[in-house]
Amino acid sequence: MPRKRAEITALVLAAGEGTRMKSSLPKVLHPVCGRPMLLVMLDTLESLRPRRVLLVAGSDAERVMQAVGSRAEVAVQEERLGTGHAVLTAGPLLRPEDERILILAGDMPLVTASTLEELLALHQKSGAKATLLTVRLPDPTGYGRVVRNGTGEVQRIVEEKEATPSERRIDEINTSIYVFERSELFECLNGLGRDNRKGEYYLTDVVAMIRESGGKVSALTADDPCEGMGVNNRAELAEAERVLRGRINRRLMEEGVTMIDPSLTYVDLGVEVGEDTVIYPLTFLQGVTKIGRGCVIGPAARIIDSVLGDGVTVQESVVRESVLEDCSSVGPYASLRPGTRLGKGSRAGTFVEMKKTVVGEGSKVPHLSYMGDATIGRGVNVGAGSITCNYDGEKKHATVIEDGAFIGSDTMLIAPVRVGRGAVTGAGSSISRDVPDGALAVERSGQRIIENWKKRKGSDTARLRRPAISGGEGGDPGDANGWSEKSAGKDKEEL
Ligand code: UD1
Ligand code: CA
Repeated sequence: MPRKRAEITALVLAAGEGTRMKSSLPKVLHPVCGRPMLLVMLDTLESLRPRRVLLVAGSDAERVMQAVGSRAEVAVQEERLGTGHAVLTAGPLLRPEDERILILAGDMPLVTASTLEELLALHQKSGAKATLLTVRLPDPTGYGRVVRNGTGEVQRIVEEKEATPSERRIDEINTSIYVFERSELFECLNGLGRDNRKGEYYLTDVVAMIRESGGKVSALTADDPCEGMGVNNRAELAEAERVLRGRINRRLMEEGVTMIDPSLTYVDLGVEVGEDTVIYPLTFLQGVTKIGRGCVIGPAARIIDSVLGDGVTVQESVVRESVLEDCSSVGPYASLRPGTRLGKGSRAGTFVEMKKTVVGEGSKVPHLSYMGDATIGRGVNVGAGSITCNYDGEKKHATVIEDGAFIGSDTMLIAPVRVGRGAVTGAGSSISRDVPDGALAVERSGQRIIENWKKRKGSDTARLRRPAISGGEGGDPGDANGWSEKSAGKDKEEL
């Protein structure tokens, strides 16, 4: 059932420089489990069905706007003068009916919808003018501390830089998620100063101002401290990813997926996996990917933007932008590139690469092949080492192999070329002309037999005694394979 629309306007602050990321990408667009952290937050927010979502962006506004599209209305903060100033920047976007505002920092991808709902419910119930989300951290360094009075009421937030040594020992921190009554919030913001260590307008100062004017301030302390985590550098990004990965994997296991080692299984947000599928370690399921039931994936599989049916096997392979129908199998050591489609029960085996290739039901390409721009019918067998020569240096050309054809090992299919229904190519052939249905095509130079070759070159023991490198008696540097220019000339004369 869709949630009831919340009587709330969401405001996401994302104009910070993100300097500690040391990146050309705006901080809030760094992905966690495959999705930019800002979009992860918008997903969470949208599940609450807020009245509107507003966003404050900074110098990277254009890229941020591109990423969020129509999902948020954006105000641009030209000068970053602090979180209080950022909220003021969004002022002109507000309408009279936006009476209650949920403010969040854009770098908190781990906050959950249920915690936000609890926060809104507490704000409503307590009749507060401001309600904070806080967490307790074993190491609160860097965060604003929540200062309470003797009866436990929130008095103010003190930033790390302004805190006294005893305040620094407080382990309850401000997460940067708050609910405010709009009129009180803006009254205070308009009176805000920047007389502090950073010379910024601190949104956090509003809390004490509301208290001083007799307004009530409530706080919800989230049980899971991860929810309050802000991502400011790459180490925190990795930590956020680890936590999110754990949540994704736990959900999949609850839904009936077996993971041999969830700590070594990497599934992007939004990937679907069916019941009774077994995932071996070092598997990456990425992008828009859907895996059916009863599949065996990994070890060491990377599947990107692909759809797999039921009963599919993929081991030690890369599959990108491909479709693998029921009971098909891939690998070990295969690379399926964009536009590949494996039909039911078909196979792309060991050291096989495919690109823009359709393989019909039950067909097999078991070993050491490259199939590019090929259409392979049903019940085809492609022998080991066969390849499509699809590129002439300028253009790509198509290869068609009709139903039931048998491609002998090491066939070069020089495209454009067609092998007809039930046709056969001889092993080692270069096929450059179409092969009619049911025909055999062989292209091979004749084999020569040189009788008594071994006897004429001396006994095995004599050969073994010869030094490995030439110069020794009877040594012949070209002779390692029983063949050299000299002997070749001689044989020619004799034949
Ligand atoms: C802030 C809080 C701190 C809290 C911490 C939680 C203040 C003064 N401090 O500190 O109490 O414990 O978050 O992570 O609010 N931003 C703008 N414009 C600006 C400045 C910041 O949009 O001019 C945005 C940033 O993009 C970010 C958020 O506001 O999303 C918080 O800013 P940040 O610089 O990360 O604040 P912290 O120092 O982490
Ligand atoms: Ca922060």
